[in-house]
Amino acid sequence: MTWRGTAGAFVGVAFALSGCSDANRPMTTLAPKSDVAQWIQSLFIEVTAWDALILLIVVVAFVLAVFVFSTRAGEAAPATPASSDLSLEIAWTVGPALILLMISIPTVRTIFRSQPRVPPSNALEVKVIGHQWWWEFQYPGGVKTGNELHIPADRPIRLNLESADIIHSFWVPQLGGKRDLVPGQINQLTFIAKVQGMYPGQCAEFCGLSHANMRFRVFVDSPVDFATWEKAQLAPPTVGKLGGQLALEGAKVFTDSPCTTCHTIQGVSKGYIGPDLTHFGGRSTLAAGVLKNSPDNLAKWIINPQEIKPGANMPALVTTGPKLDALVAYLESLK
Ligand code: CUA
Repeated sequence: MTWRGTAGAFVGVAFALSGCSDANRPMTTLAPKSDVAQWIQSLFIEVTAWDALILLIVVVAFVLAVFVFSTRAGEAAPATPASSDLSLEIAWTVGPALILLMISIPTVRTIFRSQPRVPPSNALEVKVIGHQWWWEFQYPGGVKTGNELHIPADRPIRLNLESADIIHSFWVPQLGGKRDLVPGQINQLTFIAKVQGMYPGQCAEFCGLSHANMRFRVFVDSPVDFATWEKAQLAPPTVGKLGGQLALEGAKVFTDSPCTTCHTIQGVSKGYIGPDLTHFGGRSTLAAGVLKNSPDNLAKWIINPQEIKPGANMPALVTTGPKLDALVAYLESLK
């Protein structure tokens, strides 16, 4: 390829990339929407700029060595250099040490800035529990949700991360870096979300067969919307009212089924192995973010959870037919 062709290809790629919106690349780490994510990006740009400067210096030195200081044909060979040169050795020891220092100062500063030991005074603290393979969120007011975390914008959020089984990693690229959930230990993630919207997250530590299916969503709401959401979550479930007669029949299917041993529905059941389903119908996804929440998908999930999330603990307990239709109508009516 000629140099013009190469330059054209670069320009083309740059245009293609600049045409991508955040909506097309929801897992980007280059579109920060929180204070912590912004600090990480600033650090990335700062370190990249230093690296680019060093690369430039090395390339210029290399070109000078090749074209200016090399021996021309017919010229006498230069004298053999001394076997050691103290000033040179000091230079190539001190030089890299200074470079490391330049990179480590902003890095260490960002680490301490983003990990305060004590939560900010007005922080909303949410307990995050990683399970194989879903996410549990517990709010101080008593709200419990699965796989969908709602938080208010412009208020410090303090996530206290723990695991029910093995190591997982909480990662929402646009809101900040990864943080592990380690059994027997509580880790923290503290940030302020700046822009309202929905941000997808993903477990970022290999945790078994359905690691890739351990997804979740973070909804950054306005403070008013968040308060409304929290109030609705604290209210008892609608218990079929929205779904009509079919949903009422489904409520009976649920209470008669072994589903009650694993799932809580306020006032109905007290299971705790699987996600709280009290307001299941209000969620946008199911099966830890793998499927859009729709009656068809819910039916597929209940009939054969293993097909959608291999290794999942949820057994296939309800067969097809009128019972399944009623159960789906009931669960979808829980808003
Ligand atoms: Cu949980 Cu990977």
